[in-house]
Amino acid sequence: MELRRLQLEHFRNYATLDLALGPGLHVFAGANAQGKTNLLEAVYLTAVGRSPRTTHEGELIAWDAEVARATGLFASDLRGEFTVEVALGRKGAPEAMSRGGSAQKKIKVNGAPRTLANLAGLVPVVLFLVDDLEIIRGEPARRRQFLDNDLSATSRTYAWALKQYTRVVEQRNRLLKEIREGQRDLASLAPWNDQLAAFGGRLMEVRTRFVRDLSAEGIPAYQGLTSSPQGMTISYRREWGDPAAEPTTREEFAALLADAVETVAMEEVGRGSSLVGPHRDDLQFFVDGKDVRQFGSQGEQRTAALALRVAEFSLLHRLLQEPPVLLLDDILSELDRTRRSAMLDHLAPIAQVIMTTTDVDAVGLPPHAAVHIYHVSQGTVDWTSVLGE
Ligand SMILES: Nc1ncnc2c1ncn2[C@@H]1O[C@H](COP(=O)(O)OP(=O)(O)OP(=O)(O)O)[C@@H](O)[C@H]1O
Ligand SMILES: [Mg+2]
Repeated sequence: MELRRLQLEHFRNYATLDLALGPGLHVFAGANAQGKTNLLEAVYLTAVGRSPRTTHEGELIAWDAEVARATGLFASDLRGEFTVEVALGRKGAPEAMSRGGSAQKKIKVNGAPRTLANLAGLVPVVLFLVDDLEIIRGEPARRRQFLDNDLSATSRTYAWALKQYTRVVEQRNRLLKEIREGQRDLASLAPWNDQLAAFGGRLMEVRTRFVRDLSAEGIPAYQGLTSSPQGMTISYRREWGDPAAEPTTREEFAALLADAVETVAMEEVGRGSSLVGPHRDDLQFFVDGKDVRQFGSQGEQRTAALALRVAEFSLLHRLLQEPPVLLLDDILSELDRTRRSAMLDHLAPIAQVIMTTTDVDAVGLPPHAAVHIYHVSQGTVDWTSVLGE
């Protein structure tokens, strides 16, 4: 997959932008706060239909504007050429307009309206953000979000099941509190337990398969970044239910969850919240047999975060039979020069890579690939040079 053209209107600090791109490596360089990350965010928005940075989509609209628009022209061998347009309009009365808040979103593919769910899987893209370190280091919720984002962006049925499951957990939590207050009886939980198990089973089946495949890719990904024999493996972690059980199908996961729900029912009522299910699960990352979150050095954790994206790239490439667009935000701060060069040497010949940096000279650009360099300054982009052609 390749991004051929990106057009922006009133997107963040871009009043307008019309940028033509080709294959190869594209480096967007500039000082801090000029619009480099905003540009990657715009590409991601046209590919996936939402921002990787915020759920308050009003933030994406330029402060002095009412409507923002981002249009990507994509092309691939499998799908030909097509455009994705995302338009955002501020919601609410004029006096309530603030720099942020929610927005009304309209998505079009080749000019025809599409729902966000129906965009899933159309444009494969992998984005590395500096904040990804939190996937390794942060709270379990951050790792679940990583899984859910990735799987929702590529699978419509996952996105749908996740929405249903989230709704069931919310309703069930409300009901548990009502039971605790004596307003309802325990029997009223039964239909919600069934739904929790059914949707939860679906999510866990897809997640465990994805994590197993991602783990297989994590070994060469980590080795490639570090030129060491150690690889990174990833496991899906569940703290509830029979620890010896190893379900694989949706039905087996659902049955395990249904059993677990029975045993914790009274505790759930006491706490007024749902204690078992995929909304409590986690991921673990291992390098050389040790848990990177607990025992990894800063450098190992950064490398693991990047290896995770490289693994994701390889997995999507294999599953979708075309290389995703690779977006890398400021990886300079994440890796030393040798590791960076190893990564770009490996990926630039396979994929279109769009990356940002504050210092072009320090990137360690691969000597053989064509490298396009652009300068980003106060929401404008100038093409400056092409190297290596
Ligand atoms: N809705 C908006 N309207 C106008 N400007 C905005 C909006 N949202 C963010 N900005 C501005 O965009 C600027 C550039 O942000 P961006 O995150 O792209 O910088 P950057 O070039 O990646 O910098 P760094 O090197 O520090 O990461 C910021 O100064 C921010 O104030
Ligand atoms: Mg930035």
